[in-house]
Amino acid sequence: MLLDYQTTVSLNLALQLILAPALGAAVFLAKKKRFQRHCLVLRLAVAAQILAILALMSPVMGTILEPGRPNGLFQAEVLLHHGLGLVVVLLWIYINLVYLGRLRARLAPKRAMQAAAGLWVVSFILGFHIYLKLYY
Ligand code: HEM
Repeated sequence: MLLDYQTTVSLNLALQLILAPALGAAVFLAKKKRFQRHCLVLRLAVAAQILAILALMSPVMGTILEPGRPNGLFQAEVLLHHGLGLVVVLLWIYINLVYLGRLRARLAPKRAMQAAAGLWVVSFILGFHIYLKLYY
């Protein structure tokens, strides 16, 4: 781990508390039909999320999921949180490839975005619950 454990967790929490409202703002922009701004906000937000997964969340997850640690239910929650987060990233890649004309849409982008928004919210709530369980 590049940073110490506590700094990594705090940095990630701070970032998530910025990215969750950014998602809300982006959905608001889409509803107001300001699609270019919506697209830019989400390209930047998910790019930041990918960096957070690689640099901040994966190292901590490695520690939580070390073999021999008790509490299987908690580990399942951590895996679900990360799984949903990864699906959001895959949907984001798909949405971008479709809008860039690199991929033929098999799933309507609007549906993919609605799913991504919902999964992001669930993953965020799980992540917050994981944080509270670890530290409070
Ligand atoms: C994970 C990333 C994304 C999420 C969660 C997301 C979420 C949403 C949501 C909730 C809507 C409104 C759907 C509705 O009216 O029910 C929407 C619409 C839209 N978004 Fe995104 N979006 C994402 C990424 C992007 C990106 C990267 C682009 C541009 C390349 C984009 C362009 C659009 C457009 C053009 C619409 C209007 C679609 C339509 O009405 O058919 N979105 N998005």
